[in-house]
Amino acid sequence: MSRASGVCEPFRTRLESRHRVVFPGLEEEGDAMLPEADSAAIEPGVMTRGTRSFEVPDFLDPVLAREISEFLSGGMPEDWWFASLLPDPVSGGRVDHRNTPGIAPTLAGLRAHARQVFAAGGFAHFFYRTAPHLAGCHCPVCRVIAVMEDPRTIARIGTAIGRELRTSGGFFCSKYVPGCFLSPHTDSHNGVIAAVYNVTRDWRPQYGGLLHVLDDAGDEVAQVFTPTFNTLVLLDLPDTRGTLHFVSEVAPGIDVPRVAVSGWYR
Ligand SMILES: [Fe+2]
Ligand SMILES: [Zn+2]
Repeated sequence: MSRASGVCEPFRTRLESRHRVVFPGLEEEGDAMLPEADSAAIEPGVMTRGTRSFEVPDFLDPVLAREISEFLSGGMPEDWWFASLLPDPVSGGRVDHRNTPGIAPTLAGLRAHARQVFAAGGFAHFFYRTAPHLAGCHCPVCRVIAVMEDPRTIARIGTAIGRELRTSGGFFCSKYVPGCFLSPHTDSHNGVIAAVYNVTRDWRPQYGGLLHVLDDAGDEVAQVFTPTFNTLVLLDLPDTRGTLHFVSEVAPGIDVPRVAVSGWYR
């Protein structure tokens, strides 16, 4: 299970569930999360209120924020990512392909189909996502998701936005490279709040990959969020109708990935 890179495999079998993922440079850190990062700090009054959305700058301890940023931007082995495409031409559902060497020809066909559906106005996406790791994994992905799902974090977010949030609706990391996109959808059954924790450094608006919030008809852009390092964006998903939003395609030639931690609260 140990590979030349010194990185263990976080998925394979239950037999390995006690293992700890170790990667170069962080071996001495120990199992504990960084003390400042055990729950996200949200100062009263820091949150700015927008149109059914909220932004929290400086969300996590900067050390942990830099760590997850560097991990998702290249430190993490490529095959810990899964290319997530919708719709699959055969099943019509979502398909996640582990990003192993040799996957490119498979992805090309799926991407072409997803683009056709997008162009025809349907729900489609292509981006990379992480899958759940084995219990006990202490990699930066798992530690940041643990913070996002910590009851103290959930309580603080709920207090800050005046909503009663009970639990996590699930979190994962995403990576958008040129050609990646997510077409308009409402997230109506995923939770009452959608959360995107942006960890890309120095992203520019012209790179694409912007989170657009639409009006209910889907005709007008209500708000646009350029991914900003260490900033949490919260999106209200009222009642059962949710809020229409999409991520614009990342422009060709951009050689830094747009990385984020995304999920929902219920
Ligand atoms: Fe969404
Ligand atoms: Zn992990």
